[in-house]
Amino acid sequence: MRLDKFLALEGRCTRSGAKEWLRRGRVTVNGAPARDGAAAVDPEKDEIALDGEAIIYRREMHVMLNKPAGVLTAANDPRRETVLDLLPRACRALGCMPVGRLDLDTEGLLILTTDGQLAHRLLAPKNGVEKIYIAEVDGPLRGEDVSAFAQGLRLSDFTARPARLEIMPPGNVGRVTVCEGKFHQVKRMFLACGRTVMHLKRLTFGGVRLDETLAPGQWRELTAQEMKTLRAAAEGNENG
Ligand code: URA
Repeated sequence: MRLDKFLALEGRCTRSGAKEWLRRGRVTVNGAPARDGAAAVDPEKDEIALDGEAIIYRREMHVMLNKPAGVLTAANDPRRETVLDLLPRACRALGCMPVGRLDLDTEGLLILTTDGQLAHRLLAPKNGVEKIYIAEVDGPLRGEDVSAFAQGLRLSDFTARPARLEIMPPGNVGRVTVCEGKFHQVKRMFLACGRTVMHLKRLTFGGVRLDETLAPGQWRELTAQEMKTLRAAAEGNENG
């Protein structure tokens, strides 16, 4: 791999930023100053450092994003901003992809990973990975809505699995726990009870909670503990 490409990928800068680092002599390869961006390096074997600090080579990346409303859950789109546009270029370069999707107007926890197999397992219906949402609806929720969610709502093309609805103050807010993820699922479940969702936010996915210190549009890498939780959920074992 070219040295400037490696720096752009791992050093989280642009190729031109990498050239500037090289020009200023800030980069060393195996202890020797390197100035040629076109030089070939083997990231598995060579020690590449910036200002004397080794840059860790990685092939995997797992992040949580606090998705804002108005951003599309997709890798690319010719017209709209996508969730990948909110992440550093290294995420795209490494092949990070969203695990499932949130609607354009839905906010909250979105996980993106380079591990396609993990994503596949997290989305497999048989693993019943749990998600919790907060939904604000257009009128008061009733005890009978809680029972209807618990029984499994009949929608036009399928019957939703039993879900938990907790009514929150001031009465038009529901905390919903579902273990499937069909298109517009939560909105359609409320609609079946005669309520329209005005605002929807995902709080958890597979036992991993949205880090509330992340403002909409911000992201961070998942911790080792969160990855353990997620991998357990992907095996159908929600609590690790
Ligand atoms: N259910 C919905 O209706 N929309 C989402 O974005 C996620 C779950």
